[in-house]
Amino acid sequence: MTISCRGLTKVYEGGKSGWPALRGISFDIGPGEFAAVTGPSGCGKSTLLNIIGLLDEPSGGGYFLHGRDVVKMSDLERSDARRDGIGFVFQAFHLLNRLTALDNVCLPMMYAGAPDKAIKSRAHELLHKVGLKGKEIKTPLELSGGERQRVAIARALANSPKIILADEPTGNLDSSSSREVMNMLLALNKEGITVVMVTHDRELAALAGRNIRMMDGVIES
Ligand SMILES: Nc1ncnc2c1ncn2[C@@H]1O[C@H](COP(=O)(O)OP(=O)(O)OP(=O)(O)O)[C@@H](O)[C@H]1O
Ligand SMILES: [Mg+2]
Repeated sequence: MTISCRGLTKVYEGGKSGWPALRGISFDIGPGEFAAVTGPSGCGKSTLLNIIGLLDEPSGGGYFLHGRDVVKMSDLERSDARRDGIGFVFQAFHLLNRLTALDNVCLPMMYAGAPDKAIKSRAHELLHKVGLKGKEIKTPLELSGGERQRVAIARALANSPKIILADEPTGNLDSSSSREVMNMLLALNKEGITVVMVTHDRELAALAGRNIRMMDGVIES
């Protein structure tokens, strides 16, 4: 299995006894699946995605990534697994506005220690792939929302991840840009990348192979 969750719980610190966000989540996602996660605001979707993406740790339960027990990994093993294996796409893009599109895409490869020349040529290739040839030297503020998200997708692909996690990637986009971003994620999934996407958009969710519906920190269906 690519992703296996067993009774995951998450309680955020605060208040008298903390804020429970996940209350026992179990599911498997196999290689090459495209899963849409839906559910009302506050039901725990981003919390779950952040745990799957090794950005946050669960309070209890088990999480296995490609069969490896994440709870038993050291911090270094976890950050290596995140950098090399997982690409993130967020609603608010999370690009660095003072860097060009090209340099935003280069960044994760620099952290991974790839040689300079290879980094630049792969960044060009990825921007071409997402339809941004000719816009390499623009900064995010000089690009449209849809273009920014395509830079973010190129960046997510930089280290050739097996998994892409997208948290409302179309939340800030109009319907035609949303559709473009969705088509891009579907195309990447066809190439074999496992995709988990949180969305409020029913039409987009219907295009995913699978729907995971959450409610109050548990999976409803
Ligand atoms: N850092 C935090 N500290 C305390 N509580 C938090 C924190 N982050 C989230 N929560 C709480 O955990 C619950 C789940 O939040 P989460 O962000 O996962 O919801 P969501 O399903 O992604 O919602 P939305 O659709 O609005 O993005 C909410 O009740 C929220 O208030
Ligand atoms: Mg959220």
